[in-house]
Amino acid sequence: MKLFASLFMAFLPVMSVAVTADYNVIPLPNKVDVSSDSPFVLNSEVTIRATGDEMVRNADVLAGYIKQATGIDVDVNGTGEKYIRLKADLNDVNPEAYEITVNKDSVVINGASAAGMFHGMQTVRKSLPAGSHTSVSMPAAEVYDFPRFEYRGAHFDVCRHFFDVEEVKTFIDMLALHNLNTFHWHLSDDQGWRIEIKKYPLLTELASTRTQTVIGRLPGKWDGKPHGGFYTQEEAKDIIKYAAERYINVIPEIDLPGHMRAALHAYPHLGCTGGPYDVWTEWGVTEEVLCAGNDSTLIFIKDVLNEIMDIFPSKYINIGGDECPKTRWKECPKCQARIKAEGITAKGKFSAEDRLQGFITRYAYNVVNGRGRTMLGWDEILESDIPQDAIVMSWRGTAGAIEGARRGNRVVQTPNTHMYFDFYQSKDIQFEPFAIGGYIPVEKVYSFEPVPSELTPEQKKLVIGCQSNLWTEYILDFPQVQYMEMPRLAALCEVQWTAPEKKNFENFKNRIPALFSVYDYLGYNYAKHLGDISATYTPVPSKKALKVDFSTLKGSDIYYTLDGTEPTVNSTHYKKNFYVKNDAIIKAVAFRGGVKSRILCDTISVNAASFTKVSLKNSPAENYTFAGAPTLVDGITGTGNYRTGRWLGFINADCDLTIDLGSKKTVNTLDFNVCIFQCDGVVDASAVTVRGSVNGKDYVTITSEDFGEISREKEFGTVTHSVALDGNKYRYINVVISPTKSLPAWHAFAASPAFLFIDEISLK
Ligand code: ACM
Ligand code: ZN
Repeated sequence: MKLFASLFMAFLPVMSVAVTADYNVIPLPNKVDVSSDSPFVLNSEVTIRATGDEMVRNADVLAGYIKQATGIDVDVNGTGEKYIRLKADLNDVNPEAYEITVNKDSVVINGASAAGMFHGMQTVRKSLPAGSHTSVSMPAAEVYDFPRFEYRGAHFDVCRHFFDVEEVKTFIDMLALHNLNTFHWHLSDDQGWRIEIKKYPLLTELASTRTQTVIGRLPGKWDGKPHGGFYTQEEAKDIIKYAAERYINVIPEIDLPGHMRAALHAYPHLGCTGGPYDVWTEWGVTEEVLCAGNDSTLIFIKDVLNEIMDIFPSKYINIGGDECPKTRWKECPKCQARIKAEGITAKGKFSAEDRLQGFITRYAYNVVNGRGRTMLGWDEILESDIPQDAIVMSWRGTAGAIEGARRGNRVVQTPNTHMYFDFYQSKDIQFEPFAIGGYIPVEKVYSFEPVPSELTPEQKKLVIGCQSNLWTEYILDFPQVQYMEMPRLAALCEVQWTAPEKKNFENFKNRIPALFSVYDYLGYNYAKHLGDISATYTPVPSKKALKVDFSTLKGSDIYYTLDGTEPTVNSTHYKKNFYVKNDAIIKAVAFRGGVKSRILCDTISVNAASFTKVSLKNSPAENYTFAGAPTLVDGITGTGNYRTGRWLGFINADCDLTIDLGSKKTVNTLDFNVCIFQCDGVVDASAVTVRGSVNGKDYVTITSEDFGEISREKEFGTVTHSVALDGNKYRYINVVISPTKSLPAWHAFAASPAFLFIDEISLK
């Protein structure tokens, strides 16, 4: 009987679970109207109908997407009655607009151009539930969509570390998935020249390889290993074609006149001193730049840009222009002669040498313009008079975009406050690959509004778009590129594409699991912080307890323990917030499908000050206020770096905290911790005073201590100060911890006020 039953079951048809497409993808389409009419059933009977070589090529691509997402094989221009039709005759003012019309017989993807149709294909692709299915139900719907900005870019530095042709193509695939249309390819820098220039063969023979690379951020230790690579012109053309087939324009950047040390290694006569120069083995900004007084430099710029324009059909050509120190130009007779000959003078805050860069920029502009192309440059190009049709890339915040637009230039927003994907994306940097610094999580990228409110309506129209930048000093391989890019690219694409009134981060988080499934089946390495648990700890004085709230992505289940044991699906299932009154080690984990999040772990140590009513006389510094005063008595001791949100930061103001113990209590010691990060001017406290009161009005000084000069040896970590009290009973304790007023002479920021980061004030 038993045997019979199992055999019988084996012959039952596999019940296919109904899976349904969801058009609310990332970037969120501008209009999705789903109706209750019969859906389109996507299965292997379906054919894709397309006319003409370009549409047939796209149809093949779509068939590949459907297969990747669902396992379903559809053919192209086959005999199937039910079909997906690709077209590009939508009448729309926006050339990248598209419409998707789904009914029981067909899915029609119609673009205002082939590019628009391709974006529609991406929406269909991302709408499909990932898995191995025999059919997918596509609800009857009208989707109408168009991008907010015409320029939707991502920059990739292949100089600090080289990435091969296949990796660059995968990068382009990543952009296509997120509906970007511009790939900004950073091809030359101090640490390596990456593109073949036939007139200057030594650029690839000599300048494409450095002998070794500095370890860490500052010089001191090197890895002793050569690093290099370059693209032949044929390889570059192959990449341009690959990108064009995905409706992505490739903008080359030759960064000049700074960031040219690698080129100077190959052609030292182009520098002010004549060299010798090495392909730089360090990070940062080198003083070795092109000599602006040397006519050979002008010929070099003309020749290189002309060959670049022969390779790249892009309307836009980027000439860099950032970070060009003027140290050599100040000393160089040729540069000084040029300044004289051209009648260049200092103006406002800019020296004659600063304005000499404008001479070079205008020269490059004329070369680019002479071929009917448009010049782009980093916002330093605003430091001289540039023609109105040059485009400014605002990277030092948004000031360059504001000034550029006010001058009548078109601008692209790529501020280092929101768009630098080489910055850390998590505060827990001990779990992150070593990075350049900073902190730009997905939410920060998402929050960016590219059109500055300071501009007039006419000036606002000059903001043509937005892009991310990926500098690769600390990005060693392609999996790390993907980790730094995704899912920040998802947040970026919604900034670039979606109407601002439709943007909502909570809603974005609800849509991201579907995109993660796409990343998963494509084998992309992406950051999973959004799937981690975020905990909010709120001291509640009336309950003498800590309220614990967890959140994570929709569709996940959270389990936790309080005794430090590993949480599993058998641990307490988190349903709603709960309270902790005693010492605990909280561990929590989220499961989404089979995917397990990073384990959250926080230790709660309860003392007399924990969860009491507290107030601060002075506000912490603007960016370091976090959850405010209660953080200091939440039972959780700050660890790691000072940006974690567990430390409160003070500058030019004391941490002046009053604790209400609720009733008179004997307390013998007051402990507090200070976070040290000496190189950032984050150092130890200078003094502490503790006062006590029984009524909250009249205070007596219990103790006062001066900590003296800060320690030079203590560069990082935590310092714990323990202050003996008088053993008397008080209800109110006032503690005043003072920052170091002025950093000592040996410090890089000598005489500046120091930052003071405090956490967990405990009373025993
Ligand atoms: C830049 O980050 N130097 C443009
Ligand atoms: Zn010079």
